Amino acid sequence: MRLDVVTIFPEYLEPLNVSLVGKARARGQLNVHVHDLRSWTYDRHNTVDDTPYGGGPGMVMKTGPWGDALDSVLADGYETGSREPALIVPTPSGRPFTQELAVRLSERPWLIFTPARYEGIDRRVVDEYATRMPVYEVSIGDYVLAGGEAAVLVVTEAVARLLPGVLGNAESHRDDSFAPGAMASLLEGPVYTKPPVWRDRQIPEVLLSGHHGKIARWRRDEALRRTTANRPDLIERCDPKAFDKKDREM
Ligand code: ADE
Repeated sequence: MRLDVVTIFPEYLEPLNVSLVGKARARGQLNVHVHDLRSWTYDRHNTVDDTPYGGGPGMVMKTGPWGDALDSVLADGYETGSREPALIVPTPSGRPFTQELAVRLSERPWLIFTPARYEGIDRRVVDEYATRMPVYEVSIGDYVLAGGEAAVLVVTEAVARLLPGVLGNAESHRDDSFAPGAMASLLEGPVYTKPPVWRDRQIPEVLLSGHHGKIARWRRDEALRRTTANRPDLIERCDPKAFDKKDREM
């Protein structure tokens, strides 16, 4: 998969060199290009923003640098054989970024991110590129960040770990919170590792029983408990048929 990020803070994307994403890059599973938007400014002050039409506070990012940047990124990608780009526009006004969207994005060969600062990018930029490729305006949560770069890191990590061969253990995202399957829409419960006793705290005994059925039941109960406490909205949204008799006894 090819990823391009156009930003006025290329340094902000340095975490893409470490951990899971960094390793995926080193192995050639991810091909990441970070670009400085100011490379596509031609005035002395490298201006990327201007005052909003219609008035109001803050500044709006200008069409010119974004258009030139995206044209150049697209030309480079096509020249080197990438196809079917999708534009990812982080914005608090976007659709919620979910595991389901992460899965869909992980199936695409080429993602181009346009993290904005200030009040956002002149709308005409999105409208223009939407005629040429799918555009996903995504929000990583109901809060306002100072810019979209942190959202790029979030989306990239969620997507990269789904790419074939990126996670060490092929099973390890099967039981993720939000993963499809029996635990659909339930949050993952607590996890434990050695030693079995720490500061007088014992791990739940069932986990030492070797009884797979009992362990599965315990995990499901814990997932239900945690979901009910932290995300009652997820329980509400569940198909009632997804609950068995034991779930209802909880
Ligand atoms: N930019 C600013 N806030 C954001 C958010 N919540 N999600 C995505 N991009 C953003």
